[in-house]
Amino acid sequence: MDEGGSRIRRRVSVRKRNRPSLDSVSAACPATELKPSDEEDDKEMEAGSRRRKTVDVQPVEIIDSEEDMFGDYDSFAENSLLAQVDDLEQKYLQLPEHRNHATDHATEDLCSESNKHNTLNVPTVGDCTELNIDEHTKNQSRHEDVSIEPEADILYDVPSSQVLFFENLHKSSSDLGDPSTEEKNWNSSSLKTVNEKLPVNSREQPQQTVESSSKIRTSSDANRRKSLKDHLKSTMTGNAKAQTPIFSRTKQLKETLLSEEINVAKKTIESSSDDLGPFYSLPSKVRDLYVQFKGIEKLYEWQHTCLTLKSVQERKNLIYSLPTSGGKTLVAEILMLQELLCRRKDVLMILPYVAIVQEKISGLSSFGIELGFFVEEYAGSKGKFPPIKRREKKSLYIATIEKGHSLVNSLIETGRISSLGLVVVDELHMIGEGSRGAILEMTLAKILYTSKTTQIIGMSATLNNVEDLQEFLQAEYYTSQFRPVELKEYLKINDTIYEVDSRAENGMTFSRLLNYKYSDTLKKMDPDQLVALVTEVIPNYSCLVFCPTKKNCENVAEMICKSLSKEYLKHKEKEKQEVIKSLKNVSGGNLCRVLKHTIPFGVAYHHSGLTSSERKLLEEAYSTGVLCLFTCTSTLAAGVNLPARRVILRAPYVAKEFLKKNQYKQMIGRAGRAGIDSVGESILILQEKDKQQVLELISRPLENCYSHLVQEFTKGIQALFLSLIGLKIATNLDDIYRFMSGTFFGVQQKVLLKEKSLWEITMESLRYLTEKGLLQKDTIYGSEEEFQNNFRITNLGRASFKGTIDLAYCDILYRDLKKGLEGLMLESFLHLIYLTTPYDMASQCDPDWMIYFRQFNQLSPAEQNVAALVGVSENFIGKKASGQAIRKKVDKNIVNRLYLSFILYTLLKETNIWSVSEKFNMPRGYIQSLLSGAAAFSSCVLHFCEELEEFWVYTALLGELTKKLTYCVKAELVPLMEVTGVLEGRARQLYNAGYKSLTHLANANPEVLIRTIDHLSRRQAKQIVSSAKMLLHEKAEALQEEVEELLRLPSDFPGIVASSTEKA
Ligand SMILES: Nc1ncnc2c1ncn2[C@@H]1O[C@H](COP(=O)(O)OP(=O)(O)OP(=O)(O)O)[C@@H](O)[C@H]1O
Ligand SMILES: [Mg+2]
Repeated sequence: MDEGGSRIRRRVSVRKRNRPSLDSVSAACPATELKPSDEEDDKEMEAGSRRRKTVDVQPVEIIDSEEDMFGDYDSFAENSLLAQVDDLEQKYLQLPEHRNHATDHATEDLCSESNKHNTLNVPTVGDCTELNIDEHTKNQSRHEDVSIEPEADILYDVPSSQVLFFENLHKSSSDLGDPSTEEKNWNSSSLKTVNEKLPVNSREQPQQTVESSSKIRTSSDANRRKSLKDHLKSTMTGNAKAQTPIFSRTKQLKETLLSEEINVAKKTIESSSDDLGPFYSLPSKVRDLYVQFKGIEKLYEWQHTCLTLKSVQERKNLIYSLPTSGGKTLVAEILMLQELLCRRKDVLMILPYVAIVQEKISGLSSFGIELGFFVEEYAGSKGKFPPIKRREKKSLYIATIEKGHSLVNSLIETGRISSLGLVVVDELHMIGEGSRGAILEMTLAKILYTSKTTQIIGMSATLNNVEDLQEFLQAEYYTSQFRPVELKEYLKINDTIYEVDSRAENGMTFSRLLNYKYSDTLKKMDPDQLVALVTEVIPNYSCLVFCPTKKNCENVAEMICKSLSKEYLKHKEKEKQEVIKSLKNVSGGNLCRVLKHTIPFGVAYHHSGLTSSERKLLEEAYSTGVLCLFTCTSTLAAGVNLPARRVILRAPYVAKEFLKKNQYKQMIGRAGRAGIDSVGESILILQEKDKQQVLELISRPLENCYSHLVQEFTKGIQALFLSLIGLKIATNLDDIYRFMSGTFFGVQQKVLLKEKSLWEITMESLRYLTEKGLLQKDTIYGSEEEFQNNFRITNLGRASFKGTIDLAYCDILYRDLKKGLEGLMLESFLHLIYLTTPYDMASQCDPDWMIYFRQFNQLSPAEQNVAALVGVSENFIGKKASGQAIRKKVDKNIVNRLYLSFILYTLLKETNIWSVSEKFNMPRGYIQSLLSGAAAFSSCVLHFCEELEEFWVYTALLGELTKKLTYCVKAELVPLMEVTGVLEGRARQLYNAGYKSLTHLANANPEVLIRTIDHLSRRQAKQIVSSAKMLLHEKAEALQEEVEELLRLPSDFPGIVASSTEKA
């Protein structure tokens, strides 16, 4: 990695004596040596010997073995007191009993640091070593030896917040940088020894945590003389700490060093000096973590240039644009870390899809744990509004476009928007895409208008009219054509391959002829010679085949497999069988017919018809090379990071539309995996008739992106105005107009809507909202002129805005809910489900009338009455099913909506997507997105009702329904599924293995998980544990905050102001 200046090194080295610093070691090694060591090396390493390592310490080992940074520091010189403590602690930890104890009885350790202090007594440790270890435990210990140092993992994971809190509890100095204070603290405690509490033969049984927590109570009882405040505090802290594996003093010291380094970095960044410290103003640990977690050893040159731009250091807004796979994310991440750690501000990262948010959460949680910040998920039905105010650590909110908007609204509403130091938008070009683009635009415009201190950074690979965006965001622009792996573009017409060549007259030059020997049958099956193209690459390299439709993906996958030789079956045969088993596992024993046939060949389709569990499994198998070919729709290009050696575009169409340049670039951009492939290739297959259009496509620039704010009427400008007035961002005509001038639409208005002025558009929208009863002209204001221009939100307006209801449906929702109050059927969930079934999904649905009729007849009389209540008669469904003509007009939207609520109702009862998919003859992926859509809408309706007193009864009912729809699994799995990346199948496995709560997961050892849970990779196991820890810390911190808030004297307490004035 790039070495920064020496500033931080000098400061930190005050505490180092005999041993070379990490920096000096890494400076002595060539960059290539800075890579993780083999797992084998790790296994051989013993914790004790690692600690005593001197000059020959390899940074490599430090990184990969998750070794304590203090292995390098002289405060641990052989005969120092601390060294003795450390050695004894280490010896002790190596005992199998303790290993078990470490996980099972973490709470005891956490309750009192003196527990550990007492282990300082040599006799105590001696006692430990003499403990009777039975055969079983010995076996267990031999077994554990093979793993990669579970203790090291455990030691690594105590969050700094808890260390700090612990210190506060013992009224010790808050000066983290002073080791002498720490030593004093260690000596001052006097509670039970660890030995007294140690269960000798306990194995790692997550269930036992219950027992542990009961012991916390015992230990807190010892402090009866404490004040009520202290009691409450320590109980809450105990609970919070109960969820962390073990309190390690070395970890505390390590945190101390990190915190010291951060302090220095903070000063450096504030001093705006050119010297950026060890790693772009960040602690050197960040660099190590990038090597360890991401395998990134050195920044690309452009990344370095971009990070050191003057405008970046001055915190100006920035847009940067590079080709796909250019490494844009890393730059954003470093800037985010600077904001979180050095400037101590919260950060919002906006990503386009739930799946990418989850991937990012999993990837960054381990950074959060190591560096002491929260990573909070705002996607699907997750996220708290306003976000919890954290006491010490800062938060990184990772959000989808919609949730990011709600988060910003809630921060503005509570006057906290300036706590957001940085907002990063990935795939910024999405601002030009439909209603989601409009929402992104509103979010950014609101930030620009309300917080001058919040920096905005946007990135994209496919931007053309950057100037417009620059003007909107008042941003600097950086671009480069860098791509780590060269991308070669080809076109295939008949059996000839041409290379795309901008210098050639018609944009392409002859490359080669395909000479794959085709039988006559094969020719018929595969007229485009796809098999020839893929077999040049698979199975050793990966290949993506983009197809125009979902059905086509499945057909192509099957066709390719029919033509592949049996040899392909042998490649990674066992692993592929495992994938099939896993798929069955997550689908309750079901397996898609197509996948059953294609996976043995290493081939699978990938589109929205898959359930998320299936998709996750298939992606994992593809990433690890078990599957080598995906046939996919264009959503894969924007959705997930799944690069390939070769990308084939089956046809220049997406559904029936001709390919756009942006889409083309996104798809071919998947070719070439950084660090793996030397080259990436894309091949677009086309017919002679499309040749001209394709050549034009290739030579044309990327499409411009245009604001959709006004075009998306009810979801765009209308919703914007409602929220501007609701949040009091702008409440009079002049301010609203001023706001509009600052939007992306404001910048492009003259191009987008020539016939109307911005003023007219603004007036028109306000008039519409007023006529609809969502806004009122303010009557309180003074003069005639002002009276005209001020607006106030009505109750219905506020409810719609708070519930983020599409304004096209707010009237109808209100009517439906009102009607529901007259006779709500509560015998089952059906009526409530109907009321929370998304309107927009109903309009696109096409019921199967026979199924409709059959399902109707299976309902109880009370449930059937719901149909009558909403206006759908049995007679109507019966006639439709028997194909009879119906004269009476029936609202199609209501009929469809009821049909969808039948599906959802069946799903809630059966909790099995596969059987419901079969029952209703609909793709399982669709059923799943209906479910998540209903969960999201249910929570919107809940917020809508909360604002309207007459709907109080719904607020009591919809909370429960939202939860049911969100998880739609057996109740016991819900706590596990709260963890990012744990879907139903995995939750079931974990539950069956004894991991029954969030606490169990957070305390789990990834190595044990791999051994006990089928088909779980090391990477996944680590991510699950990291995410669980992160969530647990978030919850614990929230509780601690609640306690403090509860005990804090209100600032407006009678007498407080008076007495302070008196004093003055
Ligand atoms: N300096 C680096 N050294 C090695 N690998 C890197 C470096 N920077 C980024 N990468 C890797 O390159 C890959 C692509 O990076 P990234 O996802 O940031 O690309 P991107 O520019 O965002 O592309 P896209 O536009 O497709 O989203 C990732 O796997 C990332 O870990
Ligand atoms: Mg990217």
